[in-house]
Amino acid sequence: MRVLVTGVTGYIGSHAAVELLDVGHDVVGVDDFSASSPSVRAAIERAAGRPIELHELDLRNRAAVNCLFDKGNFDAVIHFAGRKFVGESMDRPVRYYSRNVGASINLAAAAQRHRVEKIVFSSSCTVYGNPAQLPVNEATPVAPVSPYGRTKVAVEDLFSDLCATDPNMSVLSLRYFNPIGAHPSGLLGEVPQGTPNNLLPYVMQVAAGQRSTLSVFGGDYDTADGTCIRDYVHVVDIAKAHVRALDYVDHVRGFDAMNLGTGRGSSVLEIITACRIATRRDIPYQIVDRRAGDAAVIFADPTRANIDLGWRAEANLTQMCFDHWRFERAHLAPEAQAS
Ligand code: WQD
Repeated sequence: MRVLVTGVTGYIGSHAAVELLDVGHDVVGVDDFSASSPSVRAAIERAAGRPIELHELDLRNRAAVNCLFDKGNFDAVIHFAGRKFVGESMDRPVRYYSRNVGASINLAAAAQRHRVEKIVFSSSCTVYGNPAQLPVNEATPVAPVSPYGRTKVAVEDLFSDLCATDPNMSVLSLRYFNPIGAHPSGLLGEVPQGTPNNLLPYVMQVAAGQRSTLSVFGGDYDTADGTCIRDYVHVVDIAKAHVRALDYVDHVRGFDAMNLGTGRGSSVLEIITACRIATRRDIPYQIVDRRAGDAAVIFADPTRANIDLGWRAEANLTQMCFDHWRFERAHLAPEAQAS
């Protein structure tokens, strides 16, 4: 298929582009480079051994989106573009609604107008907020506790209503748990902007000596070691799920949502231990106040994706942390190579 991939130079988008190219799809990428660099294109093409098309485009520009679809001749869309930090969204909600919801409205309208009827949407486990039952499955009530999570719910509702009124549309929303790690080639990975919001990039910068200590947001949660629990899943496993998702939307009409996780939860302190093993570096930390918007414990029941996509997360925590560290040293902290 000829697949439009929004946010193609971002963390998940770039890894998914490689997997799509590897199975023979053609990738037309768009990005506004607000959270990534055009240089990622070369890394994608080198990792896949095939070229992509790449256009700089802000999806909030409706005319530009329509012009893209006028010429695009797309068979499907995978929509990654958006802001993705829980903490940041608490401070900047308007930015999140503009970039995550406003852009998606333009994309949905253009896809429907041009009869691009297969859409995969990058959603998030943050739609579940603080779930009462664990593990979380797709019947778990949606109850986001952050603006970020609420924008993901808004876009899912947009696509669900679109499918309800247009029976030929097919949209699969993939609710990622916590993607970490990097492509084993060492060519692709997460490139944080400024101070990392997410745990793994911050831990890796401490391991590389770029930061002195990790702040652990809360040590008084109702968990075994008092720190939050998440379902960390390798970014390449997440990327491979999108290949399966394209096959799914090629055969199944209507709106659906599936969890992408391992089904296992790990605490912040367990992640620190796994990173100490993978990096063979000390990782000093201090426990500080909780971060607003954080869920205490969340991990997936991935049965739907296991069965209906034929997808299963394969990498373990050590592999995830080791792959993340390889990219960190090769690209972000070369000085950490020597020591
Ligand atoms: C993980 C844990 C923090 C930083 C992410 C993505 C979001 C979505 C879900 C895909 C939390 C703690 C963090 C730090 C810390 N995925 N932490 N010190 O908030 O679960 O959300 O996964 O869409 O995109 O943002 O991930 O990595 O920010 O936090 O103690 O310096 O690590 O409190 O418990 P989160 P995270």
